[in-house]
Formats: sequence, structure tokens, C-alpha cells
Amino acid sequence: MRAAILHEGAEDLVVDEIEHDTPGPHEVVIRIEACGLCHSDLHWLDGTLVRPRPQVLGHEAAGVVEAVGAGVASVSVGDRVVTCLLAGCGGCAPCHRGEPGQCRNPEAIRRLTGDRPRLATLDGHAVTPMGGIGGLAERVLIDERGAIAIPDDVPAELAAILGCAVVTGLGAVFHVAQVKPGDTVAVIGCGGVGLNVIQGARIAGAARIVAIDANPQKLPLAGRLGATDLVDASDADPVEAVRELTGAGVDHAFEVVGRPATIALAMEMAAAGRAAYVVGVMSDDTQLTVAATHFRRGKSLHGVFMGGGQPKVDIPRYVELWRRGLLDLASMVSRTLTLDEVNDGFRALAAGEVARAVVRF
Ligand code: APR
Ligand code: ZN
Repeated sequence: MRAAILHEGAEDLVVDEIEHDTPGPHEVVIRIEACGLCHSDLHWLDGTLVRPRPQVLGHEAAGVVEAVGAGVASVSVGDRVVTCLLAGCGGCAPCHRGEPGQCRNPEAIRRLTGDRPRLATLDGHAVTPMGGIGGLAERVLIDERGAIAIPDDVPAELAAILGCAVVTGLGAVFHVAQVKPGDTVAVIGCGGVGLNVIQGARIAGAARIVAIDANPQKLPLAGRLGATDLVDASDADPVEAVRELTGAGVDHAFEVVGRPATIALAMEMAAAGRAAYVVGVMSDDTQLTVAATHFRRGKSLHGVFMGGGQPKVDIPRYVELWRRGLLDLASMVSRTLTLDEVNDGFRALAAGEVARAVVRF
């Protein structure tokens, strides 16, 4: 099968033939129909996050289950599914309390070093699937806990973005911040994930949703998806702008960029007693400096991993929100491309030209 592979020392992906193993217990083979390009893939690609290579990138995918291993119970051959990084072992305390993102045994859904690898080059060298998924490939071999069944009527390129951009953005609003009707919200970074924070805040009934981006071209779509106010951070001081719009600051300030400086801004934007949330991802050695007076004023700073929810519960619900016209998936997909165009897609994402670019197989 063909897959987009990140090799040692490379700055671009190479599309090449590799093989997947046969499914073992609780594993499924999915024929991929579409896979979104996420900024987290870019973190792997540009070295912000240093991870083993060669690696098949991609984690936000949709497809059809083609084969199942022993004991697979949650999906069947022929089911349409989306993949999600937010999968846990299902048996530890965090998984039982509905937080698989904090799973204590994340290796339970991987194959261990020393086991036969799930993916290998044609001459037998192991290839790592990103996040245990590696969705930029014609097929993936993953644990069934990372495969979520969806109805047949969701177009593949829209279904794909459910698994990361939507789960992360809506989850940050519904599970972590628990935005209430009438709350005020600021969102720094209006990319694929930030736009879903905006949609989640609209669905939750936020009274004011201030969208902030350093690239003014990102703002019109933020407005169409629910932002009530648009702030061009390349032109205006975003903290001043939020204070002018809301007086005291906002109930919830979301950082969806992945930079210490924008986290500091989110803390400034939060009203006394309210909170900022770090959705953006930074390199493993990044340190933050946050003014301590924020804590004296009762503000909190929350970490968010992949929206903090349970994909097997949440994704079917998000499909219903889409069906009711509350969640706009189509506007999120700016461009579809072929696997051979994957590097162009990542360049467009890095250049801020797209909300999401999605590879169609
Ligand atoms: N201030 C405001 N906006 C900024 C700034 C800044 N200093 N720097 C970048 N941005 C904007 C970009 O213009 C872009 O619109 O942040 C947005 C990032 O969007 P994407 O590149 O589409 O990234 P996305 O996939 O949404 O991920 C955002 O969340 O899950 C994490 O790893 C992911 O760290 C990444 C973040
Ligand atoms: Zn992602």
C-alpha cells in the first residue's frame, strides 16, 4: 500500500510502498478514504516534536473497516469509522472516569518494541505510525479503541476532521471549559482546531465569542462559524481589544496556537476568577512564564489534551450536531488533494492558506 513517510533528515514526505501486518487481537485494518492535515503533523514534520523516523504521518482519518482481528467487538467489517488519537486502554482509573487522554497504560493499544511491527518497509524495516494511526496511507492497522463507527451518510472528507480538529475544539469547550449559555469567550488562533472551539462556543450558547488571529485572512471564516467579534492581532493589541469588547475580560480564553506568548495573552484576557486553556501544542522543552498576580486574582490555567472527552461517546454526538446544521464541517475543508500532493497541503497549512486540507484516497 502507498503511504506518506517522513524519513530521517527529510523535510518533506515521500510517498512510497509499505506493508501492514495482519490484524492481531483487538486490531482492525481500515481502508482510508480521507485524512486531514493537522498542525500536529506539522510539529512532527518541522521538528517541533522530535519523534522516531521513518514515520507515516496523519491521525485524522476516515475509512471503512476491511478486516478485524480476534476479539474485536466495537466495530465490524464494512463499518465506516473515523480514527482518533484520544484512545485509552479502557481499564485504568482515568479511562473509567471518562478521560482516556490521561490513560495510564497507553501502550495497551500499541504493539510493544520487540513485537512484529504494525507497519514495515517492503524489505522488512519497521515504520512508526503517527500516534499509533499513520492515516496518510491507503490502509491503517490500529487498535479498535482508536476506531469510532460513524453513519454512512457523512462524506469522508468531512468525517475525517471529526477525529482531531472537531474532537479537540468542541471537547475543549464542552468537557474542559464547560462553557455556559451567556458566557464570554476569546479564541486565539483560528486554524482548524480554533475554528471548532468557536463553533463549540456558539453551540454552547456563548454570548460573545472574540476570534483573534495574527493572519487577518483567517478571520472571515471565524465570523461565519460563530465569532461575534474579530480581532486582527497583527494590527491591534488583542488584550486591549478584548477588554474594550467585554470590560472585565472573558470567562474563557482559549490558546489554540501553541506558543508561550499567546498563553500569556490568554491569561491577560481572562476575567478575574475565570480561566485560560492551553489547547495548542509546544515542543517538549518549552517553558512558560506567567504573571503570578493572575492566580491572586483567582484565574486558572488549564491544560487540554485532545479536548479531554471520550471519542466513542462524543463523535456520534458530533455527527448529530452536524446533521442538525449546528456543526459546520463543510466550511472547515478548504481544499482536498491527492496523496501525491501531500507536501503541497502541508505547505498551504504552514502558510495559513487553509482551515483544513484533506487528502482524498
Ligand atoms: N497570534 C494569533 N494567532 C496566531 C499566532 C499569534 N501569535 N501565530 C499563529 N496564529 C494562528 C495562525 O494564523 C493560524 O490561523 O494560529 C492558527 C493555527 O492554526 P493551524 O495552523 O490550522 O493549526 P491547528 O491545526 O488549528 O492547531 C493549532 O493546536 O492541536 C494543536 O498542535 C496543534 O499547536 C497546534 C494548535
Ligand atoms: Zn491533530
